[in-house]
This record gives sequence, structure tokens and C-alpha cells, in this order.
Amino acid sequence: MDEGAVALSIQEACAELCVRNSELFAGHLLLGGDLNGAFYDAVAEEVEATCEAWTRRYDIAQEFAAGDRRAHFATTPPVFDGSAVLLRSGRGRDALAWMIAGVHGAAPQVPVYVVGHKREGIDSAPRTLGTWYSDVSLVDRARRCALYRLDGPRSDAPCADSLLRRWSLPGTRHEVVADPGVFSSAELDAGSAMLIEALPKRSPERMLDIACGAGVVGLSALDRYPDCALTFCDVDAGALDATRRAVAAAGSDARVLASNVYSDVTGRFRLIAANPPFHDGVATRHDVAPRIIAGAWRHLSRSGTLLIVANRFLRYQPLLEDVFRQVDIVNDDGKFRVYAAREPRRPRSETQ
Ligand SMILES: C[S@@+](CC[C@H](N)C(=O)[O-])C[C@H]1O[C@@H](n2cnc3c(N)ncnc32)[C@H](O)[C@@H]1O
Repeated sequence: MDEGAVALSIQEACAELCVRNSELFAGHLLLGGDLNGAFYDAVAEEVEATCEAWTRRYDIAQEFAAGDRRAHFATTPPVFDGSAVLLRSGRGRDALAWMIAGVHGAAPQVPVYVVGHKREGIDSAPRTLGTWYSDVSLVDRARRCALYRLDGPRSDAPCADSLLRRWSLPGTRHEVVADPGVFSSAELDAGSAMLIEALPKRSPERMLDIACGAGVVGLSALDRYPDCALTFCDVDAGALDATRRAVAAAGSDARVLASNVYSDVTGRFRLIAANPPFHDGVATRHDVAPRIIAGAWRHLSRSGTLLIVANRFLRYQPLLEDVFRQVDIVNDDGKFRVYAAREPRRPRSETQ
């Protein structure tokens, strides 16, 4: 089974476990965390409850909105005083701590349930959850998934803001302040550092930092090219919060957009810089980079460049050659490769 299918089957197994305990969720239910539409629908169909969703993923919020489901797109949940909160924990301990701190602050009077899979670290969740709730009890377990109930919110529990991580972006005046669910929230990733090093000397005038994370690539560009019109975009609400914070602190008027790859990006750029995702929770992601590459010609000017970094075992060269007349490897450290792709054209695969 490929990794995408594994992630789907984990969502299904978690939904099944919740459904067989559906009496716990009657009334008004907030479903949140690392859920997808299939998980939400499977649970919402079986519980006697009005449901709403909370997600930090823009693409999932869009999917909910298209299906007429009420969804909040944010890093922390909305204030909620319904009958229960059900959280999908899919991205490990630090991301769970951030979610639970948010729920503790936003829904202090409401019983909270957390469901996850062994591969996602659910078996070590009680230790994390115990920091925020005095009573963490196992409700049910099946197919390597576990469902926990939390009661007794602790009055001395840390608030979400105290979990924000701070570090200085090397070689710049910028401070990164990001929640633990954001990519490289604690330090600069080696691939990002190589991408920053490969930025051109001259200002591109219009630049897009796509899948920007905490914005480290674009923030480095901000210092190098004071005259450059910069746009940042990402699908994750925490990434956008971190980038907006840093952009505001720098006094810059750069645009920061929620976007599923290019879905909300308008205009053309002389430079698109990308360090595409390779993982999402336990699943490997191979879909985003090909979409960044295939759509680049629509967003680059004729003299534009796509600068993209990747693990060197990922085979991006043929994808790049489908869209660009010139593809150069500008850096290779044995682990990562940075490609500079120039002279974009409509992909050959689209014209055949
Ligand atoms: C490897 S990180 C790189 C972040 C940042 N550019 C850096 O170098 O630190 C990949 C980023 O892609 C974002 N991402 C994942 N899926 C996306 C999508 N469909 N559209 C836009 N961004 C996406 C993730 O939220 C994450 O911030």
C-alpha cells in the first residue's frame, strides 16, 4: 500500500472507532485537528449531532466549504461551548500539544476526545494530554487506533502562546516565531538554507515564495532585495501566521496568502522559490512538487526562473524539463539538490 493510501486508511480506521462510540458525541460537536473530509463525513453521518469543523489546512477548509459544511480555518479552535470536541491527532506530540493547548483555552467546559493511530504516536499521547487535563482515560481501541477522553482541565496548564517557538534567521534581522505544527518551527532546515544560498544576486523585482512555511526564504530575500514585490503563500494557517508576524515586524508590505499551490495566486513573477513538502504527518507527499512545477509557466514571466530544492533521490529533472527549456543543478551537497529552471513554456505533456 502506498503512503497516501496508508494515510487514508488511518483516517478511516479512526472514524470507525469514533462511530462505534457515537453516543458520546450527541448534541453539538466540534471536529478538529488533522482530519480530512472523509473522516468528518463518516463521523457526522453517524452521530446525532450538529457538527462543525476546525482545520489549519486551507485546502481542507475549502473542501468543507464546497460541501456546505461549517468550517473554521485557523491554527487554534474557535471559542466553543457545545457538547464535545473530537480531535484527530495525526502529526505527533508537539503538534498535539499545540492543538490541545488551543482547545483547553477555547472550550474549557467541554469534554474533549482525541483519536489517533499508533503510527502517529497516539500511544504516547496521554503523557502530553496530562499537562492540560487531570483525567485522561482510554475509551476504546481498535485497528491500532485509540480514542481518549479528557476531563478536568488544569488551571495551571500552559496557554498556546507559551508554546510558540522563537529563533533568529541566520544572516538576517528577522526573528521566526512559529507554532510547533509549522515546518522547521525550531531551526532552519538544511534544504531551505541551500535554497536561500542559491537566491540570485540581482533583485527579481517580483518574487513568489510558494509553500513558504515560516517564510524563511522570502524573509531572506526581503533583506537582499529591498525593492522587490514579494508574495508568500502556504496551505497551513500556522505557516501563514508565522510569516505574517515576521513580515509585519519587518515593516514590509509583502502579500501573504492562503493558497493550495497556485489556487489563490494571481499575477506573474520573475522568481518562484520552492522547498516543497515531502511529508505530511506519517504520510509521504509526492503530489505538491509536481503541481508547483507543472503550474509554474502560468505564473512566471518569460524571463522567469523557478528555483526549487529537493532531496536528491526525488526525480524532478524530467518534470522540470517538461515545462522549462533550460534546467540547471546549481547546488548539490549529496543530500539536497537545488535546480534553477528557466525559459518556461506550456508543458509538452499538456500540448500532446
Ligand atoms: C518543506 S516545507 C518548506 C517551508 C519553507 N519554504 C522552508 O523552506 O522552510 C513545505 C511547506 O509546504 C506547505 N504545503 C503543503 N501542501 C501545500 C499545498 N498544497 N499548497 C501550498 N503549500 C503547501 C506546508 O504547509 C509547508 O509549510
